[in-house]
Amino acid sequence: MKTALVTGIAGQDGSYLAELLLAKGYRVVGTVRDVHKTSDNMSASLMSRVELIEWDMLDQKEIVDIFLRNKPVEVYNYAACSSGEGMFDDPVGIGEINGLAVARMLKAISEVDSGIHFCQASSSEMFGDAVGSPQSVETPFKPRSPYGAAKLYAHSMIRIYRQYYGLFVCSAILFNHESPRRGLNFVTRKIAYQSAKIKLGLANELRLGNLDARRDWGFAGDYVRAMWLMLQQPHAEDYVVATGKTHSVRDLCEIAFKHLGLDYRDYVREDANAYRPAEPVELVGNPEKTIKQLDWAPEVKFDEMVKMMVDAELQKLR
Ligand code: GDD
Repeated sequence: MKTALVTGIAGQDGSYLAELLLAKGYRVVGTVRDVHKTSDNMSASLMSRVELIEWDMLDQKEIVDIFLRNKPVEVYNYAACSSGEGMFDDPVGIGEINGLAVARMLKAISEVDSGIHFCQASSSEMFGDAVGSPQSVETPFKPRSPYGAAKLYAHSMIRIYRQYYGLFVCSAILFNHESPRRGLNFVTRKIAYQSAKIKLGLANELRLGNLDARRDWGFAGDYVRAMWLMLQQPHAEDYVVATGKTHSVRDLCEIAFKHLGLDYRDYVREDANAYRPAEPVELVGNPEKTIKQLDWAPEVKFDEMVKMMVDAELQKLR
């Protein structure tokens, strides 16, 4: 039985990937910050099928021990500070977790077992003030937040360990990916949750930032499948994981409220204080290489995903 190690397994991507790996017959070991803390993303059945361990991401010796004890053939790194709203907070902490911790893992792989296949959840935030649109693996990076800069450091270390140390290490440049397991601080889940509350008479308005902000939003379950495929290839490479289409926050609201039989214009209020500076160039991924080389395609469409998220909120609230 092959063992996969998933850091940050209790998050959105970790829980979807764990389900996929278990269905494929892997033994799944996951790292969390606190094994006693429960996560809404991990059902009781999922919890009973994975092995959870704690890893202090600042500790180099501990990650070496984890690799030696568990002998993973594949490692997926999802542990990160990931909030879009918090991209400028705590630059040093973000640098440690989103950047240096990846260097610790790569060093540990080279010391313990250079045959391990490794996939890093990189981010479209590395493109930041992008120089062109859509963005592919060839597009130069211009991060504009400590979050994007730390992710870029990790991304660069992966290329270095691949080219100069010969490791099978890949970077998945992920554009926004969502699901009912997304945190409430992300705009998709905020809209799904609040619109369901309004429908049930538990709230009467939804305050958002810029309704015209656009993103390339896909479904998290599709994106973890791409990352698994990346590690099954004959050669390690980087890939952009995206849909190639953008939608606005307004589109999101329209679909969510319409699904509930409501008109978003009656409930959504734009709050200028919650505006974030807009990107000069639209962030939208070019997934051509990923589709062709991995034989991958996003299966859940944007409107299906929004409706799935709204339905999940309704069910939970009821
Ligand atoms: N969170 C939030 N709340 N965003 C809002 C709101 C609001 O009330 N109103 C408008 N937005 C806009 C934001 O300005 C942004 O343009 C867009 O909605 C999406 O915001 P988030 O859902 O917070 O995600 P993000 O794009 O900042 O970051 C996510 O995607 C990155 C990939 O590009 C995160 O998942 C990052 O970890 C990830 O790297």
